[in-house]
Amino acid sequence: MQNKQKHYSIAIDGPAGAGKSTIAKLVAKELRFIYVDTGAMYRAMGLLILKEGIDIGEEEAVGDFCEKAEVSLKYQEGRQQIYLNGENVTDSIRTEEAGKMASAVAKFKAVRAKMVDIQKKIADSNHIIMDGRDIGTVVLPFADLKIYLTAEVGVRAERRFKELTEKGIYCNIEEIEKDIIARDYQDMNREVSPLRQAEDAVLLDCSHLSIEEVAGSIIKLFREKLN
Ligand code: DC
Repeated sequence: MQNKQKHYSIAIDGPAGAGKSTIAKLVAKELRFIYVDTGAMYRAMGLLILKEGIDIGEEEAVGDFCEKAEVSLKYQEGRQQIYLNGENVTDSIRTEEAGKMASAVAKFKAVRAKMVDIQKKIADSNHIIMDGRDIGTVVLPFADLKIYLTAEVGVRAERRFKELTEKGIYCNIEEIEKDIIARDYQDMNREVSPLRQAEDAVLLDCSHLSIEEVAGSIIKLFREKLN
C-alpha cells in the first residue's frame, strides 16, 4: 500500500480585525502553502442570505439555502477567489454588512457543517495555512501549528478604519469598534464551535508588533515544530 503524502497545516484563529489574513498571506507566500480564508466562506453565505432576503431568525430556511448553495474556492496567482453559485463574489463579500451577516449565519449548525466539510477536504490535499474562528479547535485539530492571534480592540478598530478609508469607503471609527465588539461577542458566545483558543495554540498579541514581525514568529515556530 502507498503511503499517503503528509500535508502540513497551520491554523490561525482569533477575533475580528486582528490581522489574521494579512499575516497568513505572508506566511503562505514564504512557505509556499495555500492560504485558506474561511471567513470568506461564511461571508459568501451571509451575502446569499442578504440577496435572497431571508429572515436571519429562520434557522431552517437559512440552513436550507446554504445547504443548496454551491461554494467553491479557486486560486489565481496564489490569491483565493470565492465562487457562490458560479459567481465570483471575492470582492462583494468585503463589506461590513456581509461581515455582520457572516457572523449571524455562522451560528447555525447546518451552515458550519457544510463549511467545515469543504475546509477539511482542502486541507487533506494541500499544504495550507487556514484562518478563522474554529480552525484549531474543530477544522484542523491535528494542525502542525496552532496560533491564536489577537490585538487590543482599539488597535483592531484603528486598523480596520485605515483599511476601509484607504479603499475610499466612508466609515466612523467608533461604529467600527462597536461592530467589532458585537461580532466578537457573537462569535465567542454561540453554541456551536465558538471562537476560543485551542489548548495547544500559541497566543500571539500583535497590538504592538508589525505584520512582518508576527509572520516571522509564525514561520520560526513552524520550522521549530518540524525539527
Ligand atoms: O474572518 P472574517 O471577519 O472574514 O469572518 C466573518 C465572520 O464569519 C466572523 O465574524 C465569524 C464567521 N466565521 C466563523 O464563524 N468561523 C470561521 N472559521 C470563520 C469565520
